Order: sequence, then structure tokens, then C-alpha cells
Amino acid sequence: MLYDKEKFKKALTKQKLNFIYNHIKDISNIKILELGVREGLSTSLFLEVCEKNNGNLISIDINDCGKLFENAKWNFIHSSDDNFEMINEQILKIGELDVIYIDSLHKDFHVKKVLYNYYNFLKKGGYIFLDDVSWLPYAKSAELENKVSNFNDNQKIFKKLLEIKFTNSDNFDLEFCFENSGTAKIVKKNFEKLKEPKKVTKILSITEIFKNILENFFSKS
Ligand SMILES: C[S@@+](CC[C@H](N)C(=O)[O-])C[C@H]1O[C@@H](n2cnc3c(N)ncnc32)[C@H](O)[C@@H]1O
Repeated sequence: MLYDKEKFKKALTKQKLNFIYNHIKDISNIKILELGVREGLSTSLFLEVCEKNNGNLISIDINDCGKLFENAKWNFIHSSDDNFEMINEQILKIGELDVIYIDSLHKDFHVKKVLYNYYNFLKKGGYIFLDDVSWLPYAKSAELENKVSNFNDNQKIFKKLLEIKFTNSDNFDLEFCFENSGTAKIVKKNFEKLKEPKKVTKILSITEIFKNILENFFSKS
């Protein structure tokens, strides 16, 4: 099948995927890179847009999801998404990307690595959407409170994005949608290469400096 209409409808019921759809649904000749397919919810959403708007979708997953759809507009690559040499070559064949969706390994170091590589292939004005940047669903007394590792991972990804924004404030706009497990939206503003992230720290107030001195003094005595 070209895409799965039921999965497409299901995808639209998820606020975070709806958020993406509303930004991209009218882009003609759209070119999309998707990292992470699983059962193909977001893939169905992207393929629907490609069908309507004469687009192309490249999807990557470490698991073989290649039999989910048969669609000439879809190129599924069975690989880890940091296999840059091979994947970059496939991207060059379709040209500059309008949209990148990062929803594979939800670890800050991995998200940073793939973001820095694929950002170079994004059009000016193009979007990067990153899944899982909110830890609210995993907080104490929230619906999924037992998933402590998701809480930590999402918090780290959010922090890493701020560190990247800190050194690249003129290069892209950054916004967040906090529905479900959260989605970040990046809009590329120029063709500057991304600078390395930098820790976001604050200047200490006089009170805090004194507090630190006292704490150090009493912890040693
Ligand atoms: C959350 S699921 C993707 C869900 C899909 N985007 C959707 O909304 O329907 C994450 C997927 O990423 C894949 N994955 C995890 N690590 C990966 C990696 N390093 N490279 C490529 N795919 C990876 C997993 O196999 C899994 O299918």
C-alpha cells in the first residue's frame, strides 16, 4: 500500500504529530528525512503529504521496516542513522531537505550527533522536528511516572538543545510543543555551519557566592 490510512488517522490524533503535520502539509515537492519508523505512524503521515504534494521521503531504522509500504516516493534504508557516509549519499540524490524528523535513539549525545550531520542538508527555512523533549509525562504522579529513564533522557535532550541554541542563536529559531512527550521545532535561518554547544551557566549573585563559601567551610570542618 502507498501508506496506511488508518495509521495516518491515528497519527493525527497525537497532538505532537498533528503539530508537525500543520507545519508541512502544504509544502510542494517536499523532501523529508525521517529517523525512526517502528510501526510507521509518522511514516504514514509523511507519505500522505508526499502523495498529495509530489514529495520524497527517506526513512531510516535499525530494524527492517521496509515491508510496511510499497511506494515509489519512499526510500527505506535499513541501517543505523549514524551511518553518515551511506545515508548522506542517498540524500544528495533527492537534493536539499525541507523537513527532518529525529525520532530514533533518544539519547542527548546521539541526537546531537545526527542533528549536526543532517542539518547541513536542510534548506534555509526548512524544519527539524525532534521528538521526546518533555519529561512531564514521566514526572512523579504523572501518567507514566515509572519510566525514570525517559524522564532523564528527555530532560537531557532538552538541555542539550538549549546548549546548541546558546552558541547558534542567529542560525536557527527554536520552539517547543509540550504536548505528549514533547516536540522541538528548529527553523534554519542561514547556511552557517553549526557551532559546538556550550554549557548554559549563570553568573553567581553575591548571596550565592557567600552561601557557597559557607557551605564549603562547614563541609570541611
Ligand atoms: C519511537 S520509534 C519511532 C516511531 C515513529 N517515528 C512513529 O512516530 O511512528 C523509534 C525507532 O527508532 C529506531 N532506532 C533506534 N535507534 C536507532 C538508530 N541508531 N538508527 C536508526 N533507527 C534507530 C527503533 O528501531 C525504533 O523503530
